[in-house]
Amino acid sequence: MHIVIIAGARPNFMKIAPIIREINARISKGENFSYDLVHTGQHYDKKMSDTFFEELQIPEPDINLQVGSGTHAQQTAQIMVKFEEFLLQKPETNLVLVVGDINSTVACSLVAKKLNHKVAHVEAGLRSYDLEMPEEINRMVTDSISDYFFTTTEDASKILLSEGKNSDNVHFVGNTMIDTLAYNLDKLTPPDFLEEKGIAPGEFFLLTLHRPSNVDSFDHLIDQLKSIDEFVKDKKVVFPIHPRTLNSLKERDHSFQNIELVEPQGYLNFIYLLKNSLAIITDSGGIQEESTFLKVPCLTLRLNTERPETITIGSNILIGNDMELLKKSIEQILAKQWKESKIPDKWDGKTAERIIDVLKSKF
Ligand code: UD1
Repeated sequence: MHIVIIAGARPNFMKIAPIIREINARISKGENFSYDLVHTGQHYDKKMSDTFFEELQIPEPDINLQVGSGTHAQQTAQIMVKFEEFLLQKPETNLVLVVGDINSTVACSLVAKKLNHKVAHVEAGLRSYDLEMPEEINRMVTDSISDYFFTTTEDASKILLSEGKNSDNVHFVGNTMIDTLAYNLDKLTPPDFLEEKGIAPGEFFLLTLHRPSNVDSFDHLIDQLKSIDEFVKDKKVVFPIHPRTLNSLKERDHSFQNIELVEPQGYLNFIYLLKNSLAIITDSGGIQEESTFLKVPCLTLRLNTERPETITIGSNILIGNDMELLKKSIEQILAKQWKESKIPDKWDGKTAERIIDVLKSKF
């Protein structure tokens, strides 16, 4: 079978890496698979894209659509126009495989369905029920037209079944992001700046923020950062800064006592930082899962999450905008009093294998 695999932005790259590795393994065993890898170019900076391809040993994309940044409509529309041109030249395609919930995910699944191709959505069935999050719209639309659904948890499968999906096409397989994490655990490397800045492993908080609701308003962003800067007392906060957040921070002058701004990190450096942090403070989706797997306390600066199992059984809690709760949580972490957590079912490094087994049985 011929699969067209889509990736567009940083959180997609760790999700496709194990799928491509598994397909390549099957091809070397003589199984009937081939694929094209399409990079939409939604993320294009070296540190947001190329570094991940190198570190995760993802092959060069067969095409880069080079869409770059823009408004949601511009970006989504450009991906659609360019991906349609590509897909029209690939009549041998049996399946278009999309991952996650970014604009590239929804744009390419729409194009594929309108050309009557089958679509598989990896990480289907996640719902925050918050339509102010662009990703929630992307998830809902992608799931409404996909043919095959691969889920990270049993709850996500239940959501899809409650939305009327045929159970034959809903497959609880686990988490490909965790496949990548498990695969790279013995390759993690400390970033040089830790030693240069005199920050010891296990003695710092890690911070990432990039959601429009947290970072697009300078005042709101600075309020949150000032609170974090104060609450961590004598600990440092390592803050790899997303381009979107940097754009906002450049608006006016500011200074911090404990927060150390650093460039966006590569995968092996970032997971090293996560694994060796006191806790992560974040508004990311994927990091809630990675910290649950690593059993690192996670404080999520969002009002809701589409990944509730990271809270019910994992190491995550929702902070929202409650700075008192953030203060209390940081105090607990400093006192080494965090909740017991477990790793969700099937987050075992073998998800890509299960996905390819399912696809093999269908085509
Ligand atoms: C996108 C995804 C989000 C994901 C995030 C991970 C959507 C709707 N959002 O958000 O779900 O969690 O990626 O990073 O698809 N920029 C650069 N260099 C780059 C990419 C972006 O400088 O390589 C800057 C540009 O100023 C751009 C801004 O970052 O306007 C935002 O980029 P964009 O791709 O629109 O969304 P993200 O915030 O990265």
